[in-house]
Formats: sequence, C-alpha cells, structure tokens
Amino acid sequence: MSRLGSEGEDLIGRWSEEKLDLLAKYLEAYSDIMNKQKEKWLRAYYYIDAFAGSVRPRAKKDEQRYIDGSPLRALQTEPQFDAYWFVDVSPRRIERVQKLRDEFPNRVIDVRQGNCNDVLCNDIVPQLRYSSKKRAFVFLDPYGLQVNWETVRELANTRTCDIFVNFSVMGVTRLLPRDQTPEPEVIEQLNKVMGSTNWINEIYRELPGIQLDIFGNSTEPTLSRRTIQAEWLASLYTEQLRSLFPHVSRPVLMRNSTNSVLYALCLASHNKTAIKITHDIFNRHERLRDLGK
Ligand SMILES: C[S@@+](CC[C@H](N)C(=O)[O-])C[C@H]1O[C@@H](n2cnc3c(N)ncnc32)[C@H](O)[C@@H]1O
Repeated sequence: MSRLGSEGEDLIGRWSEEKLDLLAKYLEAYSDIMNKQKEKWLRAYYYIDAFAGSVRPRAKKDEQRYIDGSPLRALQTEPQFDAYWFVDVSPRRIERVQKLRDEFPNRVIDVRQGNCNDVLCNDIVPQLRYSSKKRAFVFLDPYGLQVNWETVRELANTRTCDIFVNFSVMGVTRLLPRDQTPEPEVIEQLNKVMGSTNWINEIYRELPGIQLDIFGNSTEPTLSRRTIQAEWLASLYTEQLRSLFPHVSRPVLMRNSTNSVLYALCLASHNKTAIKITHDIFNRHERLRDLGK
C-alpha cells in the first residue's frame, strides 16, 4: 500500500480490496451469530479496528475510484455492533475517522489516536474481561510489523476477543539477510512480533567456503539463508497463534500484482464455529480467485 501523504489518504491495490471483502463477509456472519446470542447471555459485542486507516482509500489502478475501508465495512455490517472502537496512530487519518460520527450519528463510536498496542492493552482490554459478558472482534491490519506479540497475548487472555490478523510476511522476510544471520536487534524485533525466534536458525545453513585465499586454502564457510517460502512463514505465525488461542484458521495468502506474497490473513478465535465459517469464506474466495472472477 503506498501513501498519498499529506491528506492521510491511501492508494490501495487489488489485494487490499480482497482483504476488505473477506473482512466484510466474516463480519456479517460474526454479527449475525452475536446478535442472536444477545437474546440469551451476551450483553454487548464490539468491533475494534486497531489500524483504522484513511476510511476511503482510492484504487491504485483508478485513482478516481474510492473504496470503503475497514471502518466503513464494519459500520455497514448488519446487524449493527453495539459500539465501534477506531484506533490509528496518524492524526490525519484520525481526523477522517472522527468524521464518521457525523455520517453515522446513531452509532456509538470511540476514536483513539495512538499506538494500538498501548490503546488495546491499557484502554480496551480492561473493559473486556470475561466476567463482562461482552465480546469483541479485533481487526489487526498493520502496514508491517507493528503488532506486538504481547498485545496478541493480552487479547487472547481476555477470552472475549477474537482477532482477524493481516500478518506481514513481507515485513519478516525483508528483515532476514541472505548471506549472514540477522543482527541481535533484528532478532529482538522479530521476537517482539512473533513471540519466538527459534525458527531462525533453521533457515540458515553453512555453505563451504568457495574462495581460495593467497595460499590456496579455501576460506571460512559462510552462512546463507535458504529461500523462505511464504506459506511456511505464514503457518509458523498461525502455529504461534495456536499457543494463545484455542482455534486458529488456516492463513489465506494475499499477493500483489506480480504474485509475490505480501500478507497472510487469518482468524484466531475462542470459538470453533468461527473457524469453520472463516474457512468457508476463504475457500470460496480462493475458488473464485483461481477462476479469475
Ligand atoms: C494498512 S493501513 C490500515 C487500513 C485499514 N485497516 C483499511 O483496511 O481500510 C495501516 C494503518 O495503520 C496506522 N498505523 C501504523 N502504525 C500504527 C500503530 N502502531 N498503531 C495504530 N495505527 C498504526 C497507519 O497510520 C495506517 O493508517
């Protein structure tokens, strides 16, 4: 996703639209089920957008075409959520998000500007304890590696929050050098986002030295990274999520126009049915995509 900048607008590619369509489909199913639970035990259910974005991004291929971003997808979902939390770190994007209150005057909309890790852990999670009899759907849609593993853990520990994560596969591969093991700062950064880096050693192997020094001896063996399969990295992340959530969907890979994998989208939930619904939505999406529709 490239940024138009000064107005806080975004230009988005086809894959981002696909992501938003998958989100909208899941929200419809989630809201329908939750609304029925309100007749029984549930007090309220919320939509939480931790990376709300620019509200109406434009299509990269046709800048005159505006697309409904994730906050609008949530506000358009029927039945309606009891309340909506929109978080973004960018003041300009938050200005846009604030205007949704005028567009949807009858909704309860809470807007927070800040780093979502802080807002989620300090302001939102404490309101969603298990005893609250409330539930929330949290959309985590960063550009890169902005979601801390500790935040995911806190959300999982509530047992009230399900998360739909758009995990940046590209963000991880970019950090891994080809011809040497990563620096300790990089390992720390990856640990912060993925909860573990035990897997890193697996992808580096020693290559015998091929250069000869002036005495004709071969040089020290060098370390080289094997090609990282996006599928492997995506399933590594979903495996990690399984250590926090009882039910995790398979990932669906989001590719750019040159077919490179950018992100992996998946659901982590406390409810088994949620995963079945997600898989039905993912399977249908992939079938249509393969048919070129
Ligand atoms: C991919 S865009 C979100 C797009 C939006 N979810 C949509 O689908 O319409 C990522 C957004 O995250 C915001 N952002 C970046 N780092 C953040 C952080 N640590 N906490 C909250 N928002 C952040 C950026 O300002 C940007 O608006």
